[in-house]
Amino acid sequence: MTYEYADLKIIKKEANGKLASIFSLRYKGAAHPGQYISIWVPGIGQETFPIAHQDSTGFNILVTKKSDVSKNIFPLKKGLILVKGPFGHGFPMNNLKKTNLVMIGQTHLFSPLWFALSYVKENKTSYLKTSIVALQTKPKKAFIENLKKASSDKNINLEYTEKAEDFKKLIKKIKFTKNTNVLLSLKEEYLKEVLSLLKSKKVQNKNIYFYLHRKMNCAQGICGSCAVLGEKTCVDGPVFRFDDVLGFFE
Ligand code: FES
Repeated sequence: MTYEYADLKIIKKEANGKLASIFSLRYKGAAHPGQYISIWVPGIGQETFPIAHQDSTGFNILVTKKSDVSKNIFPLKKGLILVKGPFGHGFPMNNLKKTNLVMIGQTHLFSPLWFALSYVKENKTSYLKTSIVALQTKPKKAFIENLKKASSDKNINLEYTEKAEDFKKLIKKIKFTKNTNVLLSLKEEYLKEVLSLLKSKKVQNKNIYFYLHRKMNCAQGICGSCAVLGEKTCVDGPVFRFDDVLGFFE
């Protein structure tokens, strides 16, 4: 982990629809599913991005053309960008071994689950079945094609839809056992709904982990902009176990 911004080289850029691209950055250190990095564009600002995948050359991030920072990164094809991290507590993948996993996410917020999914595929004998439910809001086609590739394994089942109503139906269809852990990466409005659905399916709170997509101004636990019930998303999260922050959704 580095607390200072350092130049990382863009080694590949792949379109993921018109408004999003996957950037591969050269990085030799270790990262963990659910961690994030901070990118600084001088004169514009900084923004945090969940890490979407890691291999021996570096890691990937998904950049969606939304904020001033991401609009400045988006046109880049090569060169260096200023990055610090990886930061934060991610999904406790080691503790989840020998269990069934259910991953529920939506298109542009799916990055933490991409990383968890690739981790499961690389360690596939360690996990039981994995079910993925995705809501594919924009960008659509490229996202779902990439997700299909990432899910190509006999122990991984993928279901996806474009409609919020069907999204809930797909989640209701899943058989949750006592040995199932759920990983979520959703907008907060969907997160609340899905948490209440999981409650109706009798999933225990201690088996639910979610990536909280909060704006992080300093990403160092200093400014307080990301605080949730006394926890700071940037240093205590961004992945939380539901029973640790129960009051947040009441
Ligand atoms: S972003 Fe500043 S305290 Fe978390």
